[in-house]
Amino acid sequence: CGIVGYIGEKQAQSILLEGLSKLEYRGYDSAGLAVYNGETIKVNKAKGRLANLEERLAVESLPGVLGIGHTRWATHGKPSDENSHPHVDMAGRFAIVHNGIIENYIELKEELMAKGHVFTSETDTEVVAKLLAELWDGDLVSTVQKAVARLEGAYALGVISEYEPDKLVAVRYASPLVVGVGDGENFIASDIPAILKHTRDVYILEDGEMAILKPDSVTLMRVDGTPVERETMKVNWDIATAEKGGYDHFMMKEIHEQPKAIRDTLSGRVKDGVVDLSQEISLTKEQIKGIEKIHFVACGTAYHAGLVGKTVLEELARIPVECDVASEYRYRNPIITDKTLVVVVSQSGETADTLAALREAKKQGARVIAITNVVGSSVAREADDVIITWAGPEIAVASTKAYTSQLIAIYLLGLYLAQVRGPKTAEQLSEIVNHLMALSTQAEDVLKQEKQIAQFARSMAKNEHLFFLGRGLDYAVALEGSLKLKEISYIHSEAYAAGELKHGTLALIEEGIPVVALATQHAVYDKMVSNIQEVKARGAHVLGLATEGDSELRKTVDEVIHIPKTIDLLTPVLTVIPLQLFAYYACVERGYDVDKPRNLAKSVTVE
Ligand code: G6P
Repeated sequence: CGIVGYIGEKQAQSILLEGLSKLEYRGYDSAGLAVYNGETIKVNKAKGRLANLEERLAVESLPGVLGIGHTRWATHGKPSDENSHPHVDMAGRFAIVHNGIIENYIELKEELMAKGHVFTSETDTEVVAKLLAELWDGDLVSTVQKAVARLEGAYALGVISEYEPDKLVAVRYASPLVVGVGDGENFIASDIPAILKHTRDVYILEDGEMAILKPDSVTLMRVDGTPVERETMKVNWDIATAEKGGYDHFMMKEIHEQPKAIRDTLSGRVKDGVVDLSQEISLTKEQIKGIEKIHFVACGTAYHAGLVGKTVLEELARIPVECDVASEYRYRNPIITDKTLVVVVSQSGETADTLAALREAKKQGARVIAITNVVGSSVAREADDVIITWAGPEIAVASTKAYTSQLIAIYLLGLYLAQVRGPKTAEQLSEIVNHLMALSTQAEDVLKQEKQIAQFARSMAKNEHLFFLGRGLDYAVALEGSLKLKEISYIHSEAYAAGELKHGTLALIEEGIPVVALATQHAVYDKMVSNIQEVKARGAHVLGLATEGDSELRKTVDEVIHIPKTIDLLTPVLTVIPLQLFAYYACVERGYDVDKPRNLAKSVTVE
């Protein structure tokens, strides 16, 4: 989601709308404004793109010089007028916009309902507006502080109140928020581009900080009231770069957002070493025990996540798993019973092939779980249960953070089923959970090797053919690495199960052919090294991917990248990152359009 806010002398409406237009990349499920007109706060909001709100405002505008605005990417509650922000309390004295997730909203909602507050939306955000009214103590800043003390989760908040219309209050905790300092006017926004037209002097709020904006002053403090002294920062980027958070391309921004996407997808779903998906999955223990087989069905990158899922679920829950591309699945007359669990994986939740496969599976009596990044998408609506990946909007056509978040959702699902079914003990499973929780930080460590990967990619970019090799889960990731490279750099590449290469494709290996070899799976490590030697002997130039502490592989390959130590089952989350970076730098070196590769679309809604 994206938020903006304005306090000054100019009419807020057009400034807020213009700001929201720069934040639409953060979601476009709905948009809304709340403006104080000198007497009361008026709200106007609409489902869908910003243009819908603009149409409504053209009929009924919101005059006033204090206001907040929001563009939504639905999380809790489907995209609808009611669920759009801003949200208000019952008397309409407070209006708020929020970006993030209030994890304890159910508990707060029950408490507030018991006190007589009537809720009009399904959002987690509405509790904040009601909470402000409940805790109102005659002072806006202290009331906001009291409310924030009750919140768990992530939030960037913009608050206005009829009681103190000389102020705009903003709070940040684990969701981005900046304050723009103008001349007789001040701004808040989720991201700098929204305010760059008006000012280049900004404060970047840190977690646990709040800002009190008046037309001619900005005061920063911690939420406990401790004053914060900080210089403003001068923004010297142009708007186009700023939308990409300072990165040259959305793909790069999204690659770097992976540690956060991993963390967010795990958030609230693991308690004391145990996975709890009871909010998302309605299967009873008996039903879980009764599952006879699982089918993963998806397209493209999501299909590659499903391939990892096959190994992961078979290993964790000992249930037989098949994985199909959706366009094949529905036409091959798959054997489905009411004891079949079908897991459809889709970033957009709108891919026509995946949706058609989902419908076919349901028709034949399967139970369907969707793993998707878009709340309220077709796939999410039609599946029996949904596990949302909290990767945030993915703009680049080549999927990166959606894939790693899909893997996390798959691990969570596997662990959740395994907790009920065995055969692994609670101790064994909690050990896996511990490693899972470490992945986000480990992903950050992988990203630190960007320079070396870039160098290798640049030196390989002139080649027209390339091979990716791996065994087991490394093979599944090799397929994804190869797809990434093809999609954006247009280099022809193939991913091969390393042991299979000698049965034909080895004929293509000749002097100087680049090979990316993944060797992180301990059970097949020695075999993998032999396969690498086979291509080395034919003149291949090999980049190896090894686990930290592996000093052997270096002797066999030309260059090596290390991923931090984890258990074999979890390596895909880390090994894919160098491959994404590799594709990115190869594409840049060849001068192609990273974010919009030829012939492809982000969401393919035709079969
Ligand atoms: C398109 C995209 C791919 C994506 C695939 C599946 O082909 O270009 O990047 O993996 O669709 O998309 P979904 O939204 O279902 O994950």
